[in-house]
Amino acid sequence: MRDVAIIGVHVTKCGEIWDTSFRDLFVEAGLGAIKDSGVDHIDSMYVGCMSGGLFVGQEHIGALMADYLATGPIPATRVESACASGGVALRAGWLDVASGNSDIVLVGGVEKMTDVGGDEATYALATAADQEWEGFNGVTFPGLYAMMAVAHMNRYKTTPEQMAAVAVKNHDNGSKNPVAQFPMKITVDAVLNSVLVADPLHILDCSPVTDGAAAAILVPADMASKLGKKQGVKILGSGHATDTIALHQRKDLATLEAVAKSASVAYDTSGKKPGDIDVCEVHDCFTIAEIMATEALGFFEKGQGGPAVEAGDTRIGGTIPVNTSGGLKSKGHPVGASGVSQVVEIVEQLRGESGDRQVKGAKVGMTQNMGGTGASSVVHIMEAM
Ligand code: COA
Repeated sequence: MRDVAIIGVHVTKCGEIWDTSFRDLFVEAGLGAIKDSGVDHIDSMYVGCMSGGLFVGQEHIGALMADYLATGPIPATRVESACASGGVALRAGWLDVASGNSDIVLVGGVEKMTDVGGDEATYALATAADQEWEGFNGVTFPGLYAMMAVAHMNRYKTTPEQMAAVAVKNHDNGSKNPVAQFPMKITVDAVLNSVLVADPLHILDCSPVTDGAAAAILVPADMASKLGKKQGVKILGSGHATDTIALHQRKDLATLEAVAKSASVAYDTSGKKPGDIDVCEVHDCFTIAEIMATEALGFFEKGQGGPAVEAGDTRIGGTIPVNTSGGLKSKGHPVGASGVSQVVEIVEQLRGESGDRQVKGAKVGMTQNMGGTGASSVVHIMEAM
């Protein structure tokens, strides 16, 4: 296996992007990453997309994007793993380069979610749950994560204020990110007094419905300085794991086993441990998800994720800054693209390009991207070269 480096990244503006089509969003991200890297062609491409069919009526997305990116007749593969599609696309690209099969790989993600109404978006998202046991009975993603939140509150005394503190921190970070969908700063009171979506989750505990795309260019690490214009970022470890798709079949609703498993593989393959991570993007589709993910990643003991965010440990300047981009909560959650947009943030952090939200001296970063209620999780650990 060859070492793999990321030499270029780009993320589009996230939000309700009326004037840019599904394909044009991806092309904008892809061309941005190609320009950032300096490469003059790509050998193969992976496109993370959760539900082009339900959101914009488009499948066959690998070929579509290769066509509109004018790559020539390269292999182009659409990768689907619900909201983890982007992270799993990165893993596919990493394997392609690491195996020696391709030298220059574009990994991207795209979703255009706002062309359908709220009910249709909720339905499309719910197809990532167990349709037979969950979706057909009316359960939605806010509903599923609300059940996980209640389990965590009952088990560990996690409070609504601690969950709200995740949203406050992420909006504060997002206020410094020009691509963020909801860059406004908020308070704990604002979260607690916002509309209740699924008790105990308020609208300000939820990630939004978002259009957006992101891309990264991967090459063998020993070619990074020759092919790339900027400092390379090496992928040190990659872990991918799954869990029961239906929540009722989990041993413990208050634990994300697939996150713990994917992290343990990424730690083992990278030789790093939780204390070595300087900055991390985690899958905060709901505030409780960030709390549970930071526990499963080993940053905090089980039950300590809530007190830690309230104490400021996950802020920029804290012991482990989490979601410096604003996370899915504030930056936005274009589901198939989110895993790649996390990579954009970590690469920029490790290159020292994050401006007002820069984590000083960040050398090692992590991304954690999740599908469904944690039925799939993918973790990558990266280091500045
Ligand atoms: N955070 C902050 N503000 C939000 C928001 C969010 N997540 N979602 C919507 N808003 C704002 C809108 O901008 C709008 O503001 P305005 O009145 O000033 O224009 C207002 O709240 C109402 O927006 P609307 O789009 O009508 O909300 P909605 O009720 O249709 O949808 C949710 C709100 C929370 C149900 C929706 O965002 C959602 O389903 N989120 C979860 C997405 C999800 O499950 N992703 C996959 C996770 S695994």
